[in-house]
Amino acid sequence: MLDHPAIPWPGLPTLPDAERIARAQGVRDQLRTRRTCRYFSDTAVPRAVIEAAIEAAGTAPSGANHQPWHFAVIGSAARKAEIRAAAEEEERAFYTSKASAEWIEALAPLGTDADKSYLAVAPWLIVIFGQRRGGILPDDDRQNYYVMESVGIATGFLLAALHAANLATLTHTPNPMRFLNTLCGRPASEKPVMIVVAGHAAADATVPRHALRKKPLEQIASWL
Ligand SMILES: Cc1cc2nc3c(=O)[nH]c(=O)nc-3n(C[C@H](O)[C@H](O)[C@H](O)COP(=O)(O)O)c2cc1C
Repeated sequence: MLDHPAIPWPGLPTLPDAERIARAQGVRDQLRTRRTCRYFSDTAVPRAVIEAAIEAAGTAPSGANHQPWHFAVIGSAARKAEIRAAAEEEERAFYTSKASAEWIEALAPLGTDADKSYLAVAPWLIVIFGQRRGGILPDDDRQNYYVMESVGIATGFLLAALHAANLATLTHTPNPMRFLNTLCGRPASEKPVMIVVAGHAAADATVPRHALRKKPLEQIASWL
């Protein structure tokens, strides 16, 4: 017979409904102040902040609890410069020929282009990889499940934790991203999903007005 030990979990402490609502609204209001930032300063951020944020990401739910993610953290100036150079090469090809006209049009209000200088300026780049195989033990080699969904949730936790530390972040997805396996020393079985840039916004940073337009509740939810 299989052994599936379980421990009692009585749930989190009870709260009055008004307090629950206030807390949820508080988290909403805090998350509303997050902005994708594309202009960073080189002001240092302690490694301990990044470590705690990755630990927060690591608490995310995942398919079969296999935790199919790896966070490659880059702080060295030389490695950041390599990533910038490789990303800009891909992005130049993307903006000049690879991207469809519709995609370029969708990106226009954000004002993005092939210049990714922030990759060399911000103190930390966190490259997130999804693992198709793994399992929970270090030497496991089992099928992982719902890899992209799990990585997406973990990345959300990571962004929320960095935001709670009042850091600026950017989710950057150079297209294609395979060069990140080589530069981060990760096996071909892992899929690079995105680079999270973390640091302080530059003093003269701006954000596109377009990004502030968020769909209202009526547009994103239905009640059945
Ligand atoms: C999966 C994903 C990929 C993204 N890729 C890029 C990117 O490569 N470059 C970029 O400048 N922004 C990128 N973004 C940021 C979006 O443009 C940004 O989230 C959106 O405009 C909304 O702005 P906000 O994050 O400030 O709310 C990406 C966001 C997501 C979720």
